[in-house]
Amino acid sequence: MKDKFVIGVTGGSGSILALTLLRNLENYETHVVVSEGAKKVFREELGSTGDELLKLASYTYDDKDISARISSGSFKFTAAVIIPCSISTLGKVASGISDTLVTRACAVALKERRKLILVPREMPLSTIVLENMHKLSLAGAIVAPASPGYYTRPKSVEDMVNFVVSRVLDLMGVENDLVRRWRSGEK
Ligand SMILES: Cc1cc2nc3c(=O)[nH]c(=O)nc-3n(C[C@H](O)[C@H](O)[C@H](O)COP(=O)(O)O)c2cc1C
Repeated sequence: MKDKFVIGVTGGSGSILALTLLRNLENYETHVVVSEGAKKVFREELGSTGDELLKLASYTYDDKDISARISSGSFKFTAAVIIPCSISTLGKVASGISDTLVTRACAVALKERRKLILVPREMPLSTIVLENMHKLSLAGAIVAPASPGYYTRPKSVEDMVNFVVSRVLDLMGVENDLVRRWRSGEK
């Protein structure tokens, strides 16, 4: 079976992360949901509402459509990735609130014990957010902050974006060569 990924895009900063991830998933079946918050951030950061993202998706859903097929545990998927994951969405998922399609898909991933990767972008982190992250990690989610490494000597924003997306693709089990791996080629 072809890998199926649920990709939730919420209103954390980093619309380019979602776009870059989708550009690297062309050979996979992707089910994409963009929250209203994400559309606002897209407008600020990329001057669009995320239409280019939707064009790259295999299937798209409205975040308000909580009866969409991905809201059911019977819809099997390889992993759900929320990128960027706003602190609001992260808090809802940690508290078991499923009032949007993105948060419902996360709740499904947790209850079905499927891979859930959350890519938050915020700093600094309040005690509440840290507690929520701890809770999610205990529940089996992978909290993968959008924080690039600098040891690769990035020359551009694109390099830093690729660093984060490459690590997310690794977590999803998707082969990629977006960044040169540390000490690769050394004997
Ligand atoms: C330009 C802009 C940048 C934002 N950046 C962040 C951010 O980096 N992290 C975050 O958690 N929220 C950020 N927010 C706030 C979220 O978008 C807001 O809390 C929203 O309600 C999240 O809803 P959602 O999770 O349903 O998308 C930002 C909002 C705007 C307008």
